[in-house]
Amino acid sequence: MRLAVISDTHFHHDRSAAVGPRRTGIADLLMLRAVHRLNRFVRPDLTVVLGDIVDDGSSATTAAQFDTMRRILDLLRMPWLALPGNHDGDTGRFFRHFPPLPAVLDVAGVRCLPFVDPEAPGYNAYRDSADLRRLDGARADGWKGPVVALQHVPIFPPGRHSCPYNYDNAGEIVRRMESAGITLAVSGHFHAGIDLLQNGPLWFAAAPALCEAPFAYLVVDLGDGAVRAERQSLAMATDLALTDIHVHTHMAYCNENMDIGMALQLARDLGLLGLRFTEHSGHLYFSYDDYSRACFVGGIAAAHPDDNRMPAYLAALKRHRLDPRTWGVEIDADAHGVPIMQPGDESALPFRVGALHGLDVLQNPGVTDAIIAARFLAVLERFLTYRIDVLAHPFRVFRRARRDLPAGLLEPTVSLLRRYGTAAEVNFHTNDPSPDFIRLCIDHGVPLAFGSDAHNLYEVGEFFPHLALLREAGYDGPLQDVMMRL
Ligand SMILES: [Fe+2]
Ligand SMILES: [Fe+2]
Ligand SMILES: [Fe+2]
Repeated sequence: MRLAVISDTHFHHDRSAAVGPRRTGIADLLMLRAVHRLNRFVRPDLTVVLGDIVDDGSSATTAAQFDTMRRILDLLRMPWLALPGNHDGDTGRFFRHFPPLPAVLDVAGVRCLPFVDPEAPGYNAYRDSADLRRLDGARADGWKGPVVALQHVPIFPPGRHSCPYNYDNAGEIVRRMESAGITLAVSGHFHAGIDLLQNGPLWFAAAPALCEAPFAYLVVDLGDGAVRAERQSLAMATDLALTDIHVHTHMAYCNENMDIGMALQLARDLGLLGLRFTEHSGHLYFSYDDYSRACFVGGIAAAHPDDNRMPAYLAALKRHRLDPRTWGVEIDADAHGVPIMQPGDESALPFRVGALHGLDVLQNPGVTDAIIAARFLAVLERFLTYRIDVLAHPFRVFRRARRDLPAGLLEPTVSLLRRYGTAAEVNFHTNDPSPDFIRLCIDHGVPLAFGSDAHNLYEVGEFFPHLALLREAGYDGPLQDVMMRL
């Protein structure tokens, strides 16, 4: 059974808000990033949020902040529960925004007991006799699997850890947990977190605060009599020196909340070395109504001068004082592989990600794989003759068209990339790149580039799956040896 433990988000909806090291103003984006990563890549059986969801539970805006976090948690595609912490204010009000807690929750062979305990002086807590009796009865029905106690404040045998917080009656709780056969007590509250601590048959842990760098949560695996816990950070390790080469802006028609200044700040917060804004050229030259079909069929010649937003895009990059050598664009191709680009604008955009967002033959249901593969390679080769630094999401057109990748397409694509000196993007945005393709790129010296393709701020620099894919492709050497030089 896999349990994800998120704690201490300390949300405050003022974007610039921070309290010491707590990045309260971005806590909603951190939670969104965690939720999407859990849903798609970590896939726990249960997610628990162990309190201090907001930073100030007594303000006039607390209710709205709870609702924001509730909406994000509702995106989780597995069971979840949330406990209040000492920052969340009145417990009765908390549960008007979050689901009521069950006395016992059995998920995937593991029994969870959530506790909401009264506070005690010094940011400690106290467990009352009724909840001690609930602990005593954890296995009263003959339950044989692991049992996990969930609470906000850390519990551990007094003296066993330097954490300054504990329960006033911790000794009593630990004794009762031992005799009730509890497996693990997991908490939050102590922002540094507590790594797994063993005391006889009992384990203790506390999740680090999600709101403090490196923005980590805990993944606990229980089973076969063993308990394993791993911290996973939302931030990338800075020593990897990663650059997100594919970030959209407020000018993408399909953007959700993009903001150049916020994206730059998040890239720094989340451990990136840098990022490249690469707006869709089709969105910059065409109106919302025309950017997909008219642009693909008619090419750049079909663009109407009144729809041209390229000057506004360049002005936005300039306003944020970005180094002009890093200014980028995601160049769309028309149906023939000709870039959607006004020749006069090319010199202003030295960083060129190229994307095939459509392939004409895929619209014909009866067409064979061999024809599709030949057409893909012909269009791609024509496109690559214009200087393209990185091929965005190389095979995503097939997924979008709900077609399998035609057999035998990987090798010739890698040869083309190699011949034209184009890097291959690793991109998980509505896309699932294959380890085989990554392996071929590495073996044939085609450099890789990591792109988030962020259309929402939470996605900036989210390379958790990218790093996992490289491992899955069997690569464990230095990252810079296989990455594009920027
Ligand atoms: Fe707390
Ligand atoms: Fe794209
Ligand atoms: Fe994109």
